[in-house]
Amino acid sequence: MTEYDPLSAEVLDDPGPAHARLLAECPVHRFEGFEPPFYTLSRYEDVAWALKDTTTFSSRYGQGPRFTEERGMKSDPPMHTFFRRLVSKAFTPRAVAAMEPRIDGIVTDLIDAFVDRGEGDLHHELAYPLPTIVIAEMLGVPAEDRDRFKAWSDAWVTAMGSTTPELWADEIAEMRGYIHEHVAERQRRDAAGLALPDDLVSALVVAEEDGERLDAEGIVNVVRQLLVGGNETTTSLLTNALLRLTEQPGLLDRIREDPALAEVAVEESLRFDAPVLGLFRTTTCPVERHGVVIPEGEKVMLLYSAANRDPAVFEDPDVFSLDRAAHEVRRHLAFGFGIHVCLGAGLARLEGRIVLQQVARRLRDLEITAPPQRIEPFMLWGKATLPARWTPPS
Ligand code: HEM
Repeated sequence: MTEYDPLSAEVLDDPGPAHARLLAECPVHRFEGFEPPFYTLSRYEDVAWALKDTTTFSSRYGQGPRFTEERGMKSDPPMHTFFRRLVSKAFTPRAVAAMEPRIDGIVTDLIDAFVDRGEGDLHHELAYPLPTIVIAEMLGVPAEDRDRFKAWSDAWVTAMGSTTPELWADEIAEMRGYIHEHVAERQRRDAAGLALPDDLVSALVVAEEDGERLDAEGIVNVVRQLLVGGNETTTSLLTNALLRLTEQPGLLDRIREDPALAEVAVEESLRFDAPVLGLFRTTTCPVERHGVVIPEGEKVMLLYSAANRDPAVFEDPDVFSLDRAAHEVRRHLAFGFGIHVCLGAGLARLEGRIVLQQVARRLRDLEITAPPQRIEPFMLWGKATLPARWTPPS
């Protein structure tokens, strides 16, 4: 069987070559180096097939490599449908479009704070604060607490991909406690007939689907999913895109001259460097693919990132190019596919486009000055640092 160890230093450093080997030689792989061992699907057609068949490939035991019992959106229908209907009300294309001026203002303020210096870390000063501020404002939690969110979200994601999740139990309990407190306060106000602030937590407190409301535990789960699912991923999109756009000369100039190209750049970044390399499902019955039978009750990793470089779907898949047609590149699976397709995709795309347009316009001659560090979890792909230099405005 093809050698593939997603935890090895080589694959963590650059998963591309290993994914290319899986695509070519081993479309159904079994990895024994994790407890429990897991299977991996990498081809576009196979990943899409598994994402569509939610009866065979269940989300009930979590999206991570270990078996966990999940509630909220990380579940199967009908529970998933109930949660998704409620939360998607906040993420309609209209609601997201209405956020553009505010997001543009946040990006302007963040860049204003460092542009004159001519150097800085674009992860610390731009890519990390932006999504955290945006989601904190949506939820109606104080933006000053954003460093705590960051620490908690990181702890959650790291624990999810770890064989020793108990090491992060304190942070995770603290996060739940914080959100719980916040939700309980809204529920008390609502019960007392007091007006609620106009934000997502209030919307979740009063939302009804078929006459049913979410209980505090359900809301805490949703809020936690939004914090964890929306922060680091968007930060990774921004760092990954900025890195690739500075690796080839002239790409940021092209976006400055034609700001509409930022949309293609966002999609190509998502395709080329999927911030979530892959997530997991659990088989509910034996299932055969390419002559391999995956037994019932096995964890299967669906590698969005490898599917995005499948030569059967994308021409020259290992080339980062702004010359791809928008509708072609948008076929990538970086946001998943099917009933669990990312609810925050429109928001992430909007943040990405605004950042790339402003960076192209305001940070002239941008270059990355040292190799960035990778974020830790093996299922994710993004940078923890992005040291950079540019010509300050005169
Ligand atoms: C570039 C940024 C992002 C990437 C790459 C990303 C990726 C993903 C992926 C791959 C899934 C599918 C999970 C699965 O198949 O089990 C997903 C689901 C989800 N994402 Fe995102 N995401 C991003 C940004 C966001 C943002 C900004 C939010 C919200 C603020 C968000 C909220 C969600 C939620 C709630 C789900 C669960 C949907 C469901 O299960 O029905 N994501 N995301």
